Amino acid sequence: MTQGGKRGHGGAAPMPITDVALRGILDSRGHPTLEADVWLGEVRGRGSCPVAIAPGRLERRRRLRTGALGPLRDSETGRLLRDELAGLKPGQEELDARLRELDDRHGVGADATLAVSLAHARAAAAVAGRPLHAWLADRAGSTPGLPRLLVNAFSGGIHGTAAPDSFQQIMIIPESGSVLDDVRIALDVYAALERTMADGSGAAPISASSGLLPGGRDLAWQLRTLDRTRAAAPAALGVDVAAEHLRTERGYRFQGREHGPAEFAALLLELVRAHGIQYVEDPFDPADTGAWEAFLPAARQAGAAVVGDDLFASDAGRVRPGLADAVLLKPSQAGTVTATLAAARAARDLGLRLAVSHRSGETEDTAMCDLAVAVGAEWIKIGGPRRGDRIAKYNQLIRLTETLTSEGAACRVPSSSKI
Ligand code: PGA
Ligand code: ZN
Repeated sequence: MTQGGKRGHGGAAPMPITDVALRGILDSRGHPTLEADVWLGEVRGRGSCPVAIAPGRLERRRRLRTGALGPLRDSETGRLLRDELAGLKPGQEELDARLRELDDRHGVGADATLAVSLAHARAAAAVAGRPLHAWLADRAGSTPGLPRLLVNAFSGGIHGTAAPDSFQQIMIIPESGSVLDDVRIALDVYAALERTMADGSGAAPISASSGLLPGGRDLAWQLRTLDRTRAAAPAALGVDVAAEHLRTERGYRFQGREHGPAEFAALLLELVRAHGIQYVEDPFDPADTGAWEAFLPAARQAGAAVVGDDLFASDAGRVRPGLADAVLLKPSQAGTVTATLAAARAARDLGLRLAVSHRSGETEDTAMCDLAVAVGAEWIKIGGPRRGDRIAKYNQLIRLTETLTSEGAACRVPSSSKI
């Protein structure tokens, strides 16, 4: 990622786009995804789009390009993007509006629009001589801050190997008050769990987002084991129910049974109370708004924040009050940097909190960390602390912690995830 440009500052006039190049690269599961280079004069910015195993039905769609690896400059999409964008002097907002239009009109896909949008943001930040997080904060009008970690401990649901009838993720949420200590806690708790799970060879199977795969061990075992393992560490629990993927005609399939929405809510609240769960993501399908509305006050009373992922799909137009405490931001759901920042602003305008999240199939791109810090998100979800794609995010967060600390900026991890 080019960071070398030193011309101008945050308010520098837009530079003309001199070139746009698209290529097919691999995500962390070995599936193809898109990377883009955008050139502003001599300065190159680069960005890529992650891939979801469990995309929500309301998010912007990738365009499937099976087997498309290597240079895509001269593919239909690559040429279209270059023809439409090269020579323009758009600034990020205008570029992103143009990209959205190209997706709506020509179906270039949210993977292409996000890759180009991120690449342009990186190049523009470099031209302005600003680190990406600061440049994004300038665009968002937000105050940078450090998030708390959501660390994937157990994977299930569609992310597991069995039928999708359990939580997609059970996460530990370290609460030391400092990012570095939180990372240490995450490493300790994860390693202890790993030892518990290890097979005869000493290895423990993990999911795409580096959560441990529980095999035959049921939910009660997972929660009990987590309660024991984190007993000595300051760490709370969170769950991603990903209920859109558990939906049946009359309710939700969970733990081998079908539950009506009210019964499912009661089951979730019982778990929240029994295990001190502080974070509940997507407890219901996005269409089940009555269930969300009824659940929110009850969950708050039980001490948990309710977070909308597939519910809001990182879309400013969908963010509304009364359903959740926080909005989960996934740039690939929104399709551009500007649309992601708009969703963040819509959340803040309503007094909602923010979590920034990876996807199950990640690339080495760490822009999501800069985004989380830029908008001062309360949480960041970057998977378990294993494998390069996730570790790249942990490492970028460690670097950003140093930067923010040395700048004397708001570098306290917010304790506000507790209601
Ligand atoms: P997804 O899951 O990328 O499969 O949507 C991401 C997450 O919520 O962790
Ligand atoms: Zn989710």
